[in-house]
Amino acid sequence: MTIDWNDTAREWHLTNGRTSWVLRVLENGWVALLHAGAPLAMGPSYRHLGPATFEGYDNRVNEPIGLAAPVPGVGDFRVPAIVVENPDGSTVLDLRYRAHRILAGKPPLAGLLPCTYVEDPAEADTLEIDVADAPTGVVVTLSFSIFRDWPVMARSMRIANDGPAGVVVRAAMSATLDLPDAAWTLQTLSGTWARERDVVERPLVPGRQGVGSLRGGSGAEHNPFLGLRRASTTEDAGEAWGIVLAWSGNFIAEADVDAHRTTRLRIGIHPDAFAWPLEPGAAFTTPEALLAWSGDGLGGMSDALHGVLRERMARGPWRDADRPVLLNNWEGTYFDFDHDRLVEMATAAKAMGIEMFVLDDGWFGARSDDHRALGDWNVNRVKLREGLEGVAREVHALGMQFGLWIEPEMVNADSDLFRAHPDWAIGIPGRKRTESRQQLVLDFARPEVVDHVADAIIAVLAAAPIDYVKWDWNRFITEPFTPSLPPERQGEFFFRYTLGMYELYRRLTTRFPDILFESCAGGGARFDAGMLAWAPQAWTSDDTDAVERLRIQWGSSLPYPLSSAGAHVSAIPNHQTGRLTPIDFRAAVAMFGAFGYELDPTAMTDAEREAVRHQVAFYVERRDLFQRGRFLRLRSPFEGDGNETAWMVASADGSRAVVAHYRVLQHPMPVRDRLRLRGLDPSARYLVTAWSSFDAPLGTVERGGDELMRVGIGIEPQEPVPAGAWADGVRIVRADFTARMFDLRRV
Ligand code: GLA
Repeated sequence: MTIDWNDTAREWHLTNGRTSWVLRVLENGWVALLHAGAPLAMGPSYRHLGPATFEGYDNRVNEPIGLAAPVPGVGDFRVPAIVVENPDGSTVLDLRYRAHRILAGKPPLAGLLPCTYVEDPAEADTLEIDVADAPTGVVVTLSFSIFRDWPVMARSMRIANDGPAGVVVRAAMSATLDLPDAAWTLQTLSGTWARERDVVERPLVPGRQGVGSLRGGSGAEHNPFLGLRRASTTEDAGEAWGIVLAWSGNFIAEADVDAHRTTRLRIGIHPDAFAWPLEPGAAFTTPEALLAWSGDGLGGMSDALHGVLRERMARGPWRDADRPVLLNNWEGTYFDFDHDRLVEMATAAKAMGIEMFVLDDGWFGARSDDHRALGDWNVNRVKLREGLEGVAREVHALGMQFGLWIEPEMVNADSDLFRAHPDWAIGIPGRKRTESRQQLVLDFARPEVVDHVADAIIAVLAAAPIDYVKWDWNRFITEPFTPSLPPERQGEFFFRYTLGMYELYRRLTTRFPDILFESCAGGGARFDAGMLAWAPQAWTSDDTDAVERLRIQWGSSLPYPLSSAGAHVSAIPNHQTGRLTPIDFRAAVAMFGAFGYELDPTAMTDAEREAVRHQVAFYVERRDLFQRGRFLRLRSPFEGDGNETAWMVASADGSRAVVAHYRVLQHPMPVRDRLRLRGLDPSARYLVTAWSSFDAPLGTVERGGDELMRVGIGIEPQEPVPAGAWADGVRIVRADFTARMFDLRRV
């Protein structure tokens, strides 16, 4: 891995043999991006990939020059990376090369910005380029870190005011990326509550197209992710880009195709509802963007992002530790529980091999429903006569871990906290506050609010042995305003809110380093790369229906690793869709995630309990694969009629794998079909064991890796419905909603 600076050509080449980025100082001092993507040989100059000479846009306005730090108003009319309002009110900058540094490793970003890290300086190299605007003294540092082990570039920018007068940053992207053509299909992950991260694709067209959030969180409607693929790109061949933003607040992610059919991508903080004054001497650092290039299809893009997010964004002891199989009581009880009921549920869960019991919403204050008590983080002694400590003690005595739900950023108007501090809820004096789910958001831009909540939550976590925390966030921000900032600084509000949330995470994760945190936002509305720096797993969606989950988990898997995506088996009829699916189908879907259950185990039939015992045993034996293996997508629920989905996990060396094929509805006379696998050793022989329920395998055959990948594995139509199969709650509606799993071991 190298970052090479050619002093004569004034050209940098960053490469790890799997991707290359080439930049050059143009004749006018601007920094050009000559190439990004496929790996190129070190040594030769690539200046011919840009303009022969470039003295600026004089008499050649609008030309599609690839730029590293595009700004408005100087002849480049595409979307800019940086907009600064100068002391005279103009927004023109002329950012010319001043200096650069090449560093081993990767320095952390300023403050609380989540970012990737290295454990050894040999894991990455960093190039920092300073470009400066002489009239104002604005200096922008462009940062590029290339990883040794993944075709991934981490980027951010720091904007410093080294001039004599104040300026205002109006837009500050984490990255822009100029590509020489527009023959790409844009992918976004878009949806809404309970339907998060549908894969939405559209061929690029001239003009701007993209997604974003102005909700105060990254949101369920669009994810801070952009994908690009060629029309011919498949899961394992062809070119693809995957770009994520490590930021959990407002964002923009878009492509701008110009008249010459070149493409500029940009990703960063949404410039609407953002303005950051910079006094002389002050600086602003953007969040980090990760840009993965793949020549090996969408699978290669996912491999790269999964690797870097799982291993160098997630941190702490839970990054690598086995995640416990949990039972969450939410869909089992909602708000209706007491000490005895919880202990009964935990006892029943333990008997099935479940390793952790999680107490969800409703344990605090006067929380009898979702109209009251958010903010009152004292235990409800009517429900829990022996407090959290009492429940935790009994759960631990069963040999299980104990987890707890919190929603620290919120308050209900009907709460002691709101009665004491009505001004702590976000709102604009003199205007009505918009409620959502009967709750308001606390003003985390104010340090004293974060201090109060931190003390309250620390007291809860210190008073009982708690192993896991599910941190929820159940509404978006309206009436954005903070009385803690003067009028001319209200543009900082959203950014400071997110930093306040990160500050609370910092305090809790520092004080309780052994607690496993799972983030949540009304399901998956803050499922982003930034959260993974604090919480290595996230609740993927409030939709626990296994059929819906096929799409939600498939979409999430484009950028995010399986270990980050909480997935639970819930009861039927499903609470979101009313659908009846067999319990083994539900489990076969949820295992491809951070696995658990979310139902009342005391209300299950003996046959269901028996099925769960086998499911947990099956998962635990293969947990290493599910959690740390390579995830490979085989058949997309977004293609065709969506009736089939298939995916697999394989060990890095291809010696073990688990494959799952799901068929939603049964058709008469189904076509004979073979499923081609990926990620195996073509020269190895494998024992392939098929399962359709988890109590006993259907049988084992021996096959070659070459055959499994090049010819495929038979996906026989499901066997006919056995007599009496409808009755026992396990094999219900057996013909539809079938899953076939295959366990592969190299001989
Ligand atoms: C959100 C979460 C759910 C559950 C409820 C509790 O909707 O996503 O999993 O915790 O809040 O109120």
